[in-house]
Amino acid sequence: MENKEYNEFIDKFKPKLTTDDCYTPQPVYDVVLNYVKEKCDIEGLEVLRPFYPGGDYENFNYPENCVVIDNPPFSIISKIIRFYNERGINYFLFAPQLTLFSSNQEYTAIVADASIIYENGANVKTSFVSNLFGTKKIIGCPDLHQRLKKINEDKKANLPCYQYPYQVVTVSSIAKIVSKGVYIEIDKKDVAFCRGLDHQKDFKKAIFGNGFLISEKAAAEKAAAEKAAAEKAAEKKASEKNIIYWELSEREKDIINKL
Ligand SMILES: C[S@@+](CC[C@H](N)C(=O)[O-])C[C@H]1O[C@@H](n2cnc3c(N)ncnc32)[C@H](O)[C@@H]1O
Repeated sequence: MENKEYNEFIDKFKPKLTTDDCYTPQPVYDVVLNYVKEKCDIEGLEVLRPFYPGGDYENFNYPENCVVIDNPPFSIISKIIRFYNERGINYFLFAPQLTLFSSNQEYTAIVADASIIYENGANVKTSFVSNLFGTKKIIGCPDLHQRLKKINEDKKANLPCYQYPYQVVTVSSIAKIVSKGVYIEIDKKDVAFCRGLDHQKDFKKAIFGNGFLISEKAAAEKAAAEKAAAEKAAEKKASEKNIIYWELSEREKDIINKL
């Protein structure tokens, strides 16, 4: 195989960089756009978003009076900054916070410390880079932080909470039991792999992270483990609050049993 052909072949198996596929929810974009409008004079500039599937920002048509306000693929952000700096193209770009100071290029780092939940569900600590702030190298911006935080909180509050039948096991249902200090095991013969329930299909929904249908026997053991976990959680809460739980005596239990 030719070198180029071989590299293309290999590329197919490389895991997709998830941050490159983080599409921006509209309310998040609106907050960012409004912030830029408030803080920078972009009146009369055409706002561009050249980053999209199949896009080619290097051969994009940038008119004279424009500003790029967009969420680029994070894996090539240094290259993108260099490209815009060299051509004097205005930009305000989403950037991964972790590596915000990693490149020693000419730009202002706007630290927003925003935990943005992108359309693919990834929650990524995001800040911004821009060449619209003149001599400023770093701006720590609590205002932008607050506005983006509010969107995330609203989003979390509005997320539906799925309840599954007791014969369904998800990894989070097991994690909940384990986190309360209760051991659980389920045999291979007691499970059937399940991506989503039939009733979910009509709504184009599925079990997040997939799961298993489990036998009635395993479901009863899971229910017992969940009960034990709930009791442990209640005990822990009680000990933290200095609540004393009084137990029934054998004599009292006997009375109850005869009722
Ligand atoms: C993080 S996503 C954000 C998409 C969109 N701008 C948004 O805010 O929702 C980055 C996008 O850039 C695209 N992309 C990758 N390389 C690119 C390139 N060289 N030129 C333009 N877009 C590119 C990816 O396919 C992906 O759709």
